[in-house]
Amino acid sequence: MQVASVSEQMIQREQRLIADAMRMRYYPLVVASASGCTVTDVDGRQYLDLTAGWCVANTGYGHPAIQQAIADSYRRLSFWSAVSNPHPSFLDLAERLVQLVPGDAPRKVSFANSGSEANDGVAKLVPLARKRPRMISFIGAMHGMVVGSAGLSGMPFLTRFGGSGGVTRVPYPNPYRPFFSSDPEQDAAECLRFLEEQVLCGVSPPEQTAAVIVEPLQSDSGVVVPPDSFLPALQRLCRKYDLLLVDDEVKIGGGRTGRMLGAELTGVQPDVVVVGKWLGAGLPIAAIIGPAEVLDVVPLGHAFTLSGNPTCCAAALANLDVIEREGLAARAVELGERMMNRLREMQARHEWIGDVRGKGLFVGVELVRDRHTKEPASLETAKLCYRAFELGLVLNYLGVRANVLEITPPLVISAAEIDRALEILEQALADVERGLVPDDRIGRIGW
Ligand SMILES: Cc1ncc(COP(=O)(O)O)c(C=O)c1O
Repeated sequence: MQVASVSEQMIQREQRLIADAMRMRYYPLVVASASGCTVTDVDGRQYLDLTAGWCVANTGYGHPAIQQAIADSYRRLSFWSAVSNPHPSFLDLAERLVQLVPGDAPRKVSFANSGSEANDGVAKLVPLARKRPRMISFIGAMHGMVVGSAGLSGMPFLTRFGGSGGVTRVPYPNPYRPFFSSDPEQDAAECLRFLEEQVLCGVSPPEQTAAVIVEPLQSDSGVVVPPDSFLPALQRLCRKYDLLLVDDEVKIGGGRTGRMLGAELTGVQPDVVVVGKWLGAGLPIAAIIGPAEVLDVVPLGHAFTLSGNPTCCAAALANLDVIEREGLAARAVELGERMMNRLREMQARHEWIGDVRGKGLFVGVELVRDRHTKEPASLETAKLCYRAFELGLVLNYLGVRANVLEITPPLVISAAEIDRALEILEQALADVERGLVPDDRIGRIGW
């Protein structure tokens, strides 16, 4: 009789114990440890990681300087609730975050434990502060899983929870699948014309609309990179109608795009910025950075016992130091170029690769069955990630059509690791093309 591996045994335990509400699984990986860009499973197998744990481990897993900062902080002050009293790293981090945001306008900080909670604060505080009940967001957006932040989002797995009262969603320009015009610039302009002429003149008039919330690059909808003209034009529209521009940097910030914040790529100066995921290098911390008029509107209006706790603040401070000291944003530009060049070479050899796009080390590969019709290759994408796992590569997919590989490695990845990862990826693709992955390996496709 064949003995189940430790991974198989743990997966059986998981089926028994863990709620489906908190998980989705692409392959049977049970993680024991990780270091740099390498993950080790409970059976001792090693994998290269192209996910950074959904854009959290920008500085790699277990960076020694961050480990040290966390241990020192916990030894000094294991906990104090910043809801009742401040502590030094809470103030130091707030100071750093305020400095990160482009522009001279004075800003304050409200901490949370997750991007979902921080964007929930946006959903609560921004309309109250502006005395305008409506918000505008984008189709395909992911802003969180708490009812208010899910309600700001524009993906079906989030909009089913009914927190969307007052939120109007408008089209986000997608150069690979343009809706209004085959010219991407024109398409982006038409998306904004729709916002101005249909939404602001119709369902969400400016005097009732508090803000527009946007991801500078959309992630969960399928790594969508709008033309560079889009965000500045959106900012002009916001200024014209006196709407605040809220920039969700929860996923793409932290140096990933080649800048600390994705908005810097196009020189936009958002009124409110939301950061999370990557901020704590694996510890739960997020923040809203915005004007006092917004963040002071309701005393105790968005306070959580654990938010801004000493350990998470120390981790975030050390993490920001590493991103800056090791020049990880510049590294993302250089390595992202290498990655995308290789992927485009691969595109010439594999018909299923319909599009390769990205900024820095925020890279998407869209798989289609037919380059002309762009029929999504969703099952093939799921199989590709599964096969990559079998070959020693951790890789996720996402997108409204569940057919986009999200390639977001830790920013400390080396050129040699990128080359190795792409070799495995191409091998996995060739294996799926040859029908090596049976359909029954794949559970539910997408989200
Ligand atoms: C752009 C964006 N905002 C907010 C969130 C929510 O963050 P969290 O899962 O940490 O609550 C996500 C999560 O994927 C995201 O991608």
